[in-house]
Amino acid sequence: MRILLIGDIVGKPGRRIVRQAISGLVERERIDLVIANAENSAAGSGITPANYEELMAAGIDAITLGDHIYRRREIYRILETKDNIVKPANYPPEAPGKEFAVVTSAGGDKVAIISLIGRVFMKPADCPFAAVDRVLRNLDKTIKVIVVDVHAEATSDKQALGRYLDGRVSAVLGTHTHVPTADECLLPGGTAFQCDVGMTGPYDSILGRRADRVIETTRTFMPLAFDVASNDVRLGGTIVDIDAATGKATDIRRICVTEEQATALSQSDSAPR
Ligand SMILES: [Fe+2]
Ligand SMILES: [Fe+2]
Repeated sequence: MRILLIGDIVGKPGRRIVRQAISGLVERERIDLVIANAENSAAGSGITPANYEELMAAGIDAITLGDHIYRRREIYRILETKDNIVKPANYPPEAPGKEFAVVTSAGGDKVAIISLIGRVFMKPADCPFAAVDRVLRNLDKTIKVIVVDVHAEATSDKQALGRYLDGRVSAVLGTHTHVPTADECLLPGGTAFQCDVGMTGPYDSILGRRADRVIETTRTFMPLAFDVASNDVRLGGTIVDIDAATGKATDIRRICVTEEQATALSQSDSAPR
């Protein structure tokens, strides 16, 4: 089976390219399940119920988030009631949301999705190693395919979790930095790994925000609105092939869809699933 993880969707431009590209991409690449990190969907920060519905309608099967998860309080209800959206499993039990999701792929295989938040250069959080051990222990043992989104700043944090989970989950894929890394690989135990799958949004920017505003604030310490940028919109993500019987990954590759390619995909006569 083939899974696509889409990196941090940023604002309107990010949501637009997802809408344009997904159904054509799923058909062309024969993707069985689409997971997206949507923590920046709402004007660059957080996610609203309307964003959630829009991404579902676009063909996304499951959503992970990150440090911006609670920026819009309207989403709490969705986090509590929907079964295909997760909070970081190492957030406190009191924090709204579920610590794992189980969804069914187009081919009928069950896939567990777990999100973890990093601890290096980030707000203090519970231990992600202990949290993922707890979730895996409680997971239905018949579920073989498990995808972990490690939402973290430091590559060392992500590599440590990747190596820790090697052979126990199908993929450990990073999000949060908004910059794709060129280290995609299959670890010795059969887990696909990559430090960061990149961003889905405007690359003519600083992490999706207007470069001039970010530079000005960084230089002068004067606060400015970090509006979402507009140009060079790309969909960044990673495709992982997994043996559904064993849960072991067999291939991993990065993808980057430009606006031009997304337009072509939306015009191809591929029907949505
Ligand atoms: Fe983040
Ligand atoms: Fe992000």
